[in-house]
Amino acid sequence: MNTPKRYTITTALPYTNGPIHIGHLAGVYVPADIYARYLRLTGNDVALIGGSDEHGVPITIKAKKEGVTPQDIVDKYHAIIKKSFEDFGISYDNYSRTTANIHHETASEFFKTLYDKGEFIEEVTEQLYDEEANQFLADRFVIGTCPKCGNEESYGDQCENCGTSHNATDLINPKSALTGNTPTLKETKHWFLPLDKHEAFLKEWILKGHKKDWKPNVYGQVKSWIDDGLRPRAVTRDLDWGIPVPVEGGEGKVLYVWFDAPIGYISSTKEWAQREGKDWEPYWKDKDTKLVHFIGKDNIVFHCIIFPAMLKAEGSYILPDNVPANEFLNLEGNKLSTSKNWAVWLHEYLEEFPGQQDVLRYVLNASAPETKDNDFTWKDFQARNNNELVAIFGNFINRVVVLTNKYYEGVVPQPAEFSEVDDETLATVKAYPDVIASSIERYRFREAGQELMNLARLGNKYLADAEPWKEIKVDEERTKTIMFVALQIASALATLSEPFLPFTSKKLKGILLYTENSWNDISTKDILIPANHQIGKAELLFSKIEDEAIQKQLDKLEASKKANEAANKKIEPQKDTITFDDFIKLDIRVGTILEAEKMPKAKKLLVLKVDTGIDVRTIVSGIAESFTPEEVVGKKVTVLVNLAPRALRGVDSEGMILMTETAEGKLVFVNPDDSNVANGLHVS
Ligand code: 2FM
Ligand code: ZN
Repeated sequence: MNTPKRYTITTALPYTNGPIHIGHLAGVYVPADIYARYLRLTGNDVALIGGSDEHGVPITIKAKKEGVTPQDIVDKYHAIIKKSFEDFGISYDNYSRTTANIHHETASEFFKTLYDKGEFIEEVTEQLYDEEANQFLADRFVIGTCPKCGNEESYGDQCENCGTSHNATDLINPKSALTGNTPTLKETKHWFLPLDKHEAFLKEWILKGHKKDWKPNVYGQVKSWIDDGLRPRAVTRDLDWGIPVPVEGGEGKVLYVWFDAPIGYISSTKEWAQREGKDWEPYWKDKDTKLVHFIGKDNIVFHCIIFPAMLKAEGSYILPDNVPANEFLNLEGNKLSTSKNWAVWLHEYLEEFPGQQDVLRYVLNASAPETKDNDFTWKDFQARNNNELVAIFGNFINRVVVLTNKYYEGVVPQPAEFSEVDDETLATVKAYPDVIASSIERYRFREAGQELMNLARLGNKYLADAEPWKEIKVDEERTKTIMFVALQIASALATLSEPFLPFTSKKLKGILLYTENSWNDISTKDILIPANHQIGKAELLFSKIEDEAIQKQLDKLEASKKANEAANKKIEPQKDTITFDDFIKLDIRVGTILEAEKMPKAKKLLVLKVDTGIDVRTIVSGIAESFTPEEVVGKKVTVLVNLAPRALRGVDSEGMILMTETAEGKLVFVNPDDSNVANGLHVS
């Protein structure tokens, strides 16, 4: 085992303009938590740092839309997000927020240090301006075509399609997100971080140095940006929501959100250290500290180029040792989307699957987008729960605990001679901490999770082969040995599952009434749970998820899809203008459907008898896919009565019933909702 080290582990600060969903958890927070819990269990000094990213344009846009202040928005979502992290067992040492005083002070100081050191270029340039909204357009206030990939919906600071980070003035055909207007250019002063000046260092640090052990997706992206050439980036904005620029001439301007947000890692560490009576500096300035940033792929440029350049320019900080960024998680084949409500929200998941946090943690880890985008499906969720957590892990533990209680009243039996299989099994158990550790240390959390399940598999197979339930009838001593071995495996699982399944691990330790093994003990100790130790009663660790529960989730997504389709339905442009004389040619009356029957061999047509107030006539109507004949009899309808008759499948149709369509594509009658309206009255 390695000698203990100090680790500063940061997790991307989520924007507080909405709750968080499974994509966030899978990409950043579950892997970071597995890593931090593992490192603590192996005796390291760990600070797992997080917080909410509460500045930036999306928050002001949301506030504007809802008619509240940005502070109201961030207060609301900070609370929801923080609670979701607590609920899912993300073991933060500190979770802060970028509106906290300590952060404003830290970020201002950081800016001033760089300013005083002459690390910025101060320049008046022309920036995009919306004359109607009377404001400069930065970042998400402007949308246009990405100069790199041609995506027509790129934001001012970053294209979500290709991940490129650019200046708003680089956009082709920019449009204001506030008014839709084409912006003009207006002069304004800003401070720029000359990334070009740091290019040589970044090249050296990332490309030539030991950084080749970074994940290929991260390394590849960074290399391509550096190869494209780096340019100065503005680190201030003409906005009123953010941290005021703390130097002369900065009035009315704030720090760019991506300048202040990563400094949030530092201020959150400071907040923690103050609370705990610790010194924060070694966590950020001691060369022996390992700094690791957990992020999603859209944040790579900021953590591998801009923030390191800032840290280097400041001069007293360490640089990240690794940035194990993940790709994106999709949901049922489609991109997760907050605005389209195509997501599984963490707070909603817990309402539907109370107490089942570990199931989601397990499934998200098993399908984490480590090397490429990956898909979360509810069927896979169900299968992994039922076939792995219930049938392997849960089943093994349940058998061990039930049989120990049944045969020995819950007292761990004294083993007799170990057979060859027993010895081999116990030796295999001892190898697991290193096997799992090796995967975790290489940031292969999926693989690590599968190894944990392999240990449970080993236990299950051991019991199935040894058959203590048969052995008890013929050889009591042998049965004791089998149960002793099985209890050792259960005990190893209680410890090794902690990073992945923290709630289950706790419950299992509660059942075994034994918690004293560290990670390394599993490899080094011969006995993990001793003979004569009293264990508790069996409790189910996992329960089967039925088809109905899954169907409910699928139905919910289907409803989101329909609602989106409806929202996106194109409203057809208005037709050419007609005169009043044209209009009054239409004779539209109130009528009642008296009879209805299906038109033989026509899927869409119903043959109706309609009382128009003038007469009772036949109208053939294409509504059979939306209504049965029984449903329409007695309906009040609006009828165009002077339409020239025409023959449909040999039946003369003498008029037209006015219909429209719901969002889901079902036809509905345009009918007078007052049923007292008499047939034959004009509609005008
Ligand atoms: O992409 C995002 O959600 C950003 N709020 C992440 C910020 S990470 C850090 F630098 F704070
Ligand atoms: Zn692009």
